[in-house]
Amino acid sequence: MALNPYLPHLATLLEVREETEDIKTFRLAFDDPEVSSAWQYLPGQIALLSLFGVGEAAFSLSSAPLGQGWLEFSIRRMGKVTTALHQLEPGAKVGIRGPFGRGFPCELFRGHDLLVIGGGIGMAPLRSLVNYVLARREDYGRLEIVYGARSSRQFCFREEIFFLWPQAPDTQVYLTIDCPEEGWEGHVGFVPDYVAELKPSPEGKYAVVCGPPIMIEKTIAWLEKQGFPPERIYTTLEMRMKCGIGKCGRCNLGAKFVCLSGPVFSWAELKEEKERF
Ligand SMILES: Cc1cc2nc3c(=O)[nH]c(=O)nc-3n(C[C@H](O)[C@H](O)[C@H](O)COP(=O)(O)OP(=O)(O)OC[C@H]3O[C@@H](n4cnc5c(N)ncnc54)[C@H](O)[C@@H]3O)c2cc1C
Ligand code: FES
Repeated sequence: MALNPYLPHLATLLEVREETEDIKTFRLAFDDPEVSSAWQYLPGQIALLSLFGVGEAAFSLSSAPLGQGWLEFSIRRMGKVTTALHQLEPGAKVGIRGPFGRGFPCELFRGHDLLVIGGGIGMAPLRSLVNYVLARREDYGRLEIVYGARSSRQFCFREEIFFLWPQAPDTQVYLTIDCPEEGWEGHVGFVPDYVAELKPSPEGKYAVVCGPPIMIEKTIAWLEKQGFPPERIYTTLEMRMKCGIGKCGRCNLGAKFVCLSGPVFSWAELKEEKERF
């Protein structure tokens, strides 16, 4: 069944989980089982969620494609669409268009160690990647995850980051918060500084970074200094997106449209466009 990229497919909200005071994870299932089986995606890809009468906005899939029959999106309340999404209760109907864009090159990563570095809501697409890799543990090497939030209350995916991922084989989770906090015995400091302290070896490793632009910029600068080649550093860009399919021209980065060429790019590709990004 070929899906029409212009057409939102109806889905039902199954569950809403509160991650932080302004981020919720939404679990959705397509109403039509044929759409559900035709809708295949990779970690790092995005979809456009629509609320009828309100609008449409782009979000990364935060679930991994493991054949569960549902999708998850983790969404920060920002404006019109996201505020309306945050008010929904299970049973509500949402439109989904997609999946769009290029995801993480999971085939290229196969057999290699991975360093996954996230900040805030930037962990949403990285969560999809981590759970994809953990479901195929023997296909990938060592997995190191560095995740930072402003405070301990701002961490998303708490069960995974505190319990499930640290217990996974050959997996190390490093958490940090921006400022000291009573009761927090973990690391304190910004993500790029923590990565610099940890000094991960670039040997045979791919790094994937996602978070606020300043965090991405500083972390990538440090990774390069540490010897990670630009083609072994990946990130995913958030740009103003409307159509998701290369028609509206709202997401251009130089000659590229992020919705078609991205949102996932290697640093080698982005360096070419650096002045514009
Ligand atoms: C590739 C991609 C992946 C993304 N993935 C995610 C994701 O996984 N999770 C996620 O949460 N987001 C993600 N986003 C961002 C998400 O698309 C935007 O947050 C969303 O489009 C905002 O839509 P909105 O209608 O709620 O906001 P809009 O109403 O369009 O508002 C957007 C901006 O205006 C400001 N604004 C709105 N109302 C007011 C007001 N009254 N006063 C002052 N300022 C105001 C907001 O602060 C915000 O900066 C992604 C975007 C892209 C392009
Ligand atoms: S979102 Fe319309 S061209 Fe990319």
